[in-house]
Amino acid sequence: MQFSITKNPSPTPADERAKVLAAPTFGTHFTDHQVVVVWEKGKGWHSAEVIPYGPIMMDPSSAVLHYGQEIFEGIKAYRHPDGSIWTFRPEKNAQRLQKSAKRMALPELPEDIFIESLRQLIAVDGDWVPEAEGEKTLYFRPFEIAAENYLGVRPANRVEYRLIASPVGPYFTGGIKPVSIWIALGSARAGKHGTGEAKTGGNYAASLLAQQEGNENGCSQVMFLDAESGTYIEELGGMNLFFIYKDGSVVTPSLDGTILHGITRDSVITLLEDRGHKVTQRRFELSELREKAASGEIVEVFACGTAAVITPVGLLKSKEEEILIAGNEPGELTVALRKELTGIQYGTVSDKHNWMLKLKD
Ligand code: PLP
Ligand code: COI
Repeated sequence: MQFSITKNPSPTPADERAKVLAAPTFGTHFTDHQVVVVWEKGKGWHSAEVIPYGPIMMDPSSAVLHYGQEIFEGIKAYRHPDGSIWTFRPEKNAQRLQKSAKRMALPELPEDIFIESLRQLIAVDGDWVPEAEGEKTLYFRPFEIAAENYLGVRPANRVEYRLIASPVGPYFTGGIKPVSIWIALGSARAGKHGTGEAKTGGNYAASLLAQQEGNENGCSQVMFLDAESGTYIEELGGMNLFFIYKDGSVVTPSLDGTILHGITRDSVITLLEDRGHKVTQRRFELSELREKAASGEIVEVFACGTAAVITPVGLLKSKEEEILIAGNEPGELTVALRKELTGIQYGTVSDKHNWMLKLKD
């Protein structure tokens, strides 16, 4: 597919861009261009374009505004020491976007168009990828929206894929300090046969009330339990979870249909196994965490995701209890894994699994 390119006639001046790149905050500034590819029933994907960044002209009856038929991805571009620009396992994000599309009755964007869209945006906006120092990256936000002007409830006959990008610093400010997690009691994010496995806006909308309650209680993220019994730990609002035992074994909740198949999660499992750790994916009860954190058998807990990378968890709390993890200090394995993963991503540690893809020299 050929992309037509319309350059932004008034891009951000270099000194303004430099100011943003010196201290970017998550998702507040955007590059000078965006990608758009249109899909229509009977016609398929067509009209791939790079255009100036700007508002979407949308009819008030556009389906996405009413029924939430939308999906998205999160993926980053990293600047390597030689100045080249790379991304991490993009085929996994392309495949997950397709999986989310299937669940939300949206069209599946071919993997090659997804990866080409990243290349096209970097070709025009490569200067927006910050230097690595301070764990800075350019965060890509690919998404699909139902863009048909129609209030009937059915899958839209016109859909837009778009790609925007935002320079970001660490998702959690304050360095590698353990975060506190609010246990969402009485608020579920996803149920059996629901949309929990899809990266769709509604899942995040469903998490906001609990997130607000967590923030009011001094927590930066929310942990959701299974909707049916409220006893099994699933994931955070935007991250997967890992539990490390004293004997070096590791447990992470299994992918049973309600949680996101995290790409960082998958990569961390591989890195742990490379190091000789036994990783078990299974259902994991909150009571097991409570008991084994208290007895000292669980020595580290961390959360992981594209935005948050690998972040230690020091405390989990609800209205009813507080679970302290190893004195609220960052764990040794958590810190080592974070160093290894970011080293691969920023090109300072050997990429032995061939996870990195170069986007620009
Ligand atoms: N779980 C949820 C709900 C998320 O939003 C994310 C972020 O993308 C993750 C887990 C982690 O997934 P990944 O590592 O692919 O970013
Ligand atoms: C990501 O890690 O990319 C996410 O999507 C999590 C959150 C910012 C929505």
